[in-house]
Amino acid sequence: MNPASRSAYLRAMQVDSWTLRRPSCEPAAPRVDDWTGLEGEVAGCERCGLCRGRTQTVFGVGDRAADWFVIGEAPGAEEDLKGEPFVGRAGRLLNEMLRAIGLARERVFIANVLKCRPPGNRDPAAAETAACLPYLERQIALVRPKILLVVGRIAAQSLLASVEPIARLRGRVHGFGPERVPLVVTYHPAYLLRSPAEKRKAWEDLKFARRVFAGVK
Ligand code: URA
Repeated sequence: MNPASRSAYLRAMQVDSWTLRRPSCEPAAPRVDDWTGLEGEVAGCERCGLCRGRTQTVFGVGDRAADWFVIGEAPGAEEDLKGEPFVGRAGRLLNEMLRAIGLARERVFIANVLKCRPPGNRDPAAAETAACLPYLERQIALVRPKILLVVGRIAAQSLLASVEPIARLRGRVHGFGPERVPLVVTYHPAYLLRSPAEKRKAWEDLKFARRVFAGVK
C-alpha cells in the first residue's frame, strides 16, 4: 500500500497514524549520557553565580553502580576545598549512619543537589537549585540506584518539589522521577550534630530505608 492510501485507510479506520520526522535512512541520535561528559560539564559549569565563589565543583563520589544513592544539600567549606562531598564533621557522622545499616561509604554513591558551595553556607536559592538539579538527575540516571536516601529538609524539598516540613516527608516512601525510584528522607547529619536527641528518629529512618531496600532489591 502506498503511503497516501495507507493514511486514508488509517483515517477511515479512525486509527492515529504517525510519520517519521526524519528520513528513515538517518540514524536516530539518542542522547547517550556518560560520566566523562557529565563530569566535564559540571567542572566547567557557569549556570549560576555560585561558580564565581567556588574553589572547585563537588561532583560526587562512590560506587557508580551503587544500589544506594545518598543525596545532601550542598558542599560546605571543607567539601569545596577537597572537591568531595561530606568530608567534614557531618560527613563523618554520615559515614557512621551508613555503617549502622551495614553500608561502607565506598559502596554507595554520594552527591549533593548543588555542586558548588553557597557563600557562608547559606541555603541554596531556588534559581541555583533549578540550575543544578539536572546534573543530579543525570547522575541518578547513570547510577540507576535501587534507593535514594535523602538527608535534610532542603535536599528533600528540592527533589520532591515539596514545601512540606521534614517531619512529614520522613517515614514514607516517595517515588523519584519517571522511574519512581524509591526515595526515603532522613535528617541531615549536621542537624543531628546540633540536635543529638533526634538521632533516635534518624535511626528509625535508616532502618525504614533498609526495609524498603530489602523489598526492592
Ligand atoms: N552538607 C551537605 O549537604 N553536603 C556536603 O557535602 C557537606 C555537608
